Amino acid sequence: MDDFFRNITITKDGTSTIFLPEWNEYYHSKHGALQEARHVFIKNGLDYCFQLKHYEPIHILEMGFGTGLNCLLSFQYALNQRFKINYVALEAYPVLETELNQLNFTQILQDPPLDAVFEQMHKAPWNKTHKLTANFKLTKLIALFEDFTQHNAFDLIYFDVFGLRVQPELWTVAIFEKMYNALKIGGILVTYAANGQGRRAMMEAGFQVEKLKGPIGKREMIRALKN
Ligand SMILES: C[S@@+](CC[C@H](N)C(=O)[O-])C[C@H]1O[C@@H](n2cnc3c(N)ncnc32)[C@H](O)[C@@H]1O
Repeated sequence: MDDFFRNITITKDGTSTIFLPEWNEYYHSKHGALQEARHVFIKNGLDYCFQLKHYEPIHILEMGFGTGLNCLLSFQYALNQRFKINYVALEAYPVLETELNQLNFTQILQDPPLDAVFEQMHKAPWNKTHKLTANFKLTKLIALFEDFTQHNAFDLIYFDVFGLRVQPELWTVAIFEKMYNALKIGGILVTYAANGQGRRAMMEAGFQVEKLKGPIGKREMIRALKN
């Protein structure tokens, strides 16, 4: 994927995303990047986790930092709800500065403090913990998902990898066992997809899997629990 050509495109809710022509694959839903991220990761992931437990900090692991949209929305949520997040994100093929400059997330969100935060998130050095504010710590790791080995460390996983059609190797029991091990008991994983192979692999890895209504343009999504 290192040498893939990528271009910026606009999704149906006006938010930008990245497109990989070689795979005919988008970083977000073409039906709306922002609405998808809010529905899948914030509403059914972070908000669900926070309402259920009300503890802090919430330890989040994101598979695929990419454009940083989920990280930005999590920051905004924590700021509004006044609680702490420790955010760890893995990424093997970082987005380039020239690509970042074309993303319109902060213009669409119209929440001025987020402009500088988005920049800081991307400028933060890799493989180090960076305190963005007293409430938000970010650790971006340059790593392959396949090499991740942390145990019992996270409350919530944003599983935001490319789809089964293009990366079937990431929708396997081996990967979901890693995800299961990375979560604490009671931790949850959310993902935008509800494909049968992924669901079966999650169950085989030990997850209790729940199908939820998907974001606009997708019938279903998954929330999986480690209990
Ligand atoms: C669907 S995109 C989503 C990215 C991000 N969550 C966002 O909102 O922009 C998937 C991301 O996973 C990264 N990726 C793909 N395969 C990977 C691998 N094997 N290990 C680590 N990162 C990978 C890609 O570079 C891309 O940034």
